[in-house]
Amino acid sequence: MQGAAIRERFSAFFKARGHLLVPSAPLVAEDDTGVLLTTAGMLPFKKVFMGLQAPPHPRVVSIQKCFRTSDLDQVGLTVRHHTFFEMLGCFAFASYFKPEIIGWAWEFLTRELGIPPERLWVSVHEDDGEALELWRHQGVPAERAIRLWGDESFWDSGATGPCGPCSEIWFDRGPEAGCGKAECGLRCGCDRFVELWNLVFMQFDRDEQGALSSLPDRNIDTGMGLERLAMVLQGVSSTFETDLLRPLVDHAAALSGIAYGTRDRSDVSLRVLADHGRAAALLLADGVVPGNEGRGYVLRRVIRRSIRHGRLLGLTEPFLADLASRAIALYAHYPELPANRDRVLEALGEEERRFHLILAQGMQRFAQALHEHRGAKTLPGEVAFELLDTHGFPLDLTIELARDHGMTVDLVDVQRRLDEQRARARNAQRPPGLLDHVRLRTALATQYVGHATVREQVKVLEVFRAGDRWGVVTDRTPFHPEGGGQQADRGWLGVHRVEDVRTLGACIVHLLAAGEEPPPEGKTLAAQVDEERRAGLARHHTATHLLGHALRQVLGAHAQQAGSEIREDGLRFDFRFPRALTPDELRAVEDLMNREIWRDLPVSAAETTLAEARAARALELPGERYGDRVRVVEISGASRELCDGSHARTTGAVGTVALVRETGVAAGVRRIEAAAGPAALAHFRSLRTALDATAAVMKVAPSEVPARAGRLLERLRGEERLRGAAERLLGAYLQGATGPRDALVKILLDPLPPELLASLAGKLAAPGRAVVVAGVAGGRAAAIASV
Ligand code: SER
Repeated sequence: MQGAAIRERFSAFFKARGHLLVPSAPLVAEDDTGVLLTTAGMLPFKKVFMGLQAPPHPRVVSIQKCFRTSDLDQVGLTVRHHTFFEMLGCFAFASYFKPEIIGWAWEFLTRELGIPPERLWVSVHEDDGEALELWRHQGVPAERAIRLWGDESFWDSGATGPCGPCSEIWFDRGPEAGCGKAECGLRCGCDRFVELWNLVFMQFDRDEQGALSSLPDRNIDTGMGLERLAMVLQGVSSTFETDLLRPLVDHAAALSGIAYGTRDRSDVSLRVLADHGRAAALLLADGVVPGNEGRGYVLRRVIRRSIRHGRLLGLTEPFLADLASRAIALYAHYPELPANRDRVLEALGEEERRFHLILAQGMQRFAQALHEHRGAKTLPGEVAFELLDTHGFPLDLTIELARDHGMTVDLVDVQRRLDEQRARARNAQRPPGLLDHVRLRTALATQYVGHATVREQVKVLEVFRAGDRWGVVTDRTPFHPEGGGQQADRGWLGVHRVEDVRTLGACIVHLLAAGEEPPPEGKTLAAQVDEERRAGLARHHTATHLLGHALRQVLGAHAQQAGSEIREDGLRFDFRFPRALTPDELRAVEDLMNREIWRDLPVSAAETTLAEARAARALELPGERYGDRVRVVEISGASRELCDGSHARTTGAVGTVALVRETGVAAGVRRIEAAAGPAALAHFRSLRTALDATAAVMKVAPSEVPARAGRLLERLRGEERLRGAAERLLGAYLQGATGPRDALVKILLDPLPPELLASLAGKLAAPGRAVVVAGVAGGRAAAIASV
């Protein structure tokens, strides 16, 4: 029975028993699940089990895309471990419990799929006499129904939340598939028994301390690995030989020219390629982007591990896109795969090219280090650290290579260097701040009133020295401090010029310009923000939200913000994306932003709780920590983001926006610089000035500059080519010409521009040689003679 038929049978069986079939959730797990990637079919229903959300239906059946990283390094070494797999699951939310699911699971396996009952074993939790009794009732004899202890028969997702005792169904592949020991059994761990289906009786909620409390209802969560079931039904001894994976193993074998089954070592690599090629395609299609942390890092590890195994198979040219394209065809029933095909293949190609470069440079450096330390037992930490830090060469690869040469790596030293580097990076990011060692007497917080006004009567609470400047803390302030990428306001506190504004704990500190004397503590002053600067900041902050929105529209939701800088006269926006944007994409982004500006959409801000903001799907910045109370800035009909910054009242006030430049800043991170309002006008003016000046030099109209420049360049290049060819011919001739015997040489170059004649004659000149160089160009002849 093929994989597709198994999926079909499973969902039909449970649909006929009142279950609603729901599509697989994405591999990217929701933030509040406590995991990065969906590891089980129950994960999308975590909140339902906890009574926090209503289920789509009391009985649900799904075929869920899952990804587990716990065994990543095992994948390939065994015939049964995977990163990505499909989980066949049925779920009951306060609907049915043990008798129903035990009956149905048995019926499905033995009658629907026809697995001989005598090949099946079951296990139950040590205390679960009820489940044991139910299995016996199905006809499972006592010797094949076993109690397991503690964690072996209790399931949780590895995070806090719903969990419960479980009962598993195992398939016996027969004594000949096992270790042969007399005591061989379910818990032996050899290849004889395959864990097929896990039935979890979800009854508890586990808290941070590990304590269990009862869930509001009794629920059922079951999960069965499709690959394993296919292995049993297709009578093969490995999941890699099922129709779900064998085509990928074969594809990898064809690419490398090494058939599956040739050698144990190459089989490991072929299995790695099959598993990881499929996994990488599915992760990318769900919006994961290779990176150095979180899900991006998981993806990068998978990709890099496959490339390393590809090299072991002799694949030195990029192959991942080819392999993934086979996986996409094989798994086209997940519509996100064909829909994102181009993007997936492109990202793989890019990541592969990058890693090949890193490997090549790193291997060279490793070989050199090996030579320097020949005979040693330990490779100094310095070398491994330099490989990692300077070349990006993975530490595990260094360890592996060292092992191949009988060496270990001084990992303690590597760790020390990594710690030092992290400390350096922390300090480098933030130059020793003016406020680093300040301890305020003020216990109060400064109230920020700048969202509503730019001027306010404020009372000076505390004044202190900050380097060569004075810091002033007030009870309230209209000055917006630096934060969230937005630069600080400037302005005046009474007659004192404020040059910078920072937060310090709960207070806002005004830093006066150097040379300014501070106001006395206790005094009330008029605080006045520089309105023109504030308007520029607000315009660029609103433009930043519009840009983020436009990028998500044009490139997809995975184009996530990675950082921003909002100035009075421009903005910089960093986002995750694997390649440079095309001119068409840039134009589409710019068009979309300007259309939304010209629609003059209202921009509103409201305070709310984090939970409510999340429920309203307000955009959060990845990695940012938010308190319980948050501010949500909404551009009506366009974007909704958690943000404390200053904004224009309507998008119309942004005026217009121009994308100035697009560049790459780090692997997988692009940067767009843009200008809004007067800054956009200034940008266009500078372009016009440059164009007008060029047109004047060329003596053509500005619109004719491109054509004229093109023609000029073409002519220059033609002449370069001719000069190169002439010099090559001459060089060849001069090597052989030793004396007057070679009195006459004809080199045919057509045309030969007259200005080349002199230089050629010069090169040919030698004692005792007479030279005549003649040429024709543009219908005119010229000759030079020299002795
Ligand atoms: N949640 C259980 C598992 O993943 C059953 O679906 O094994």
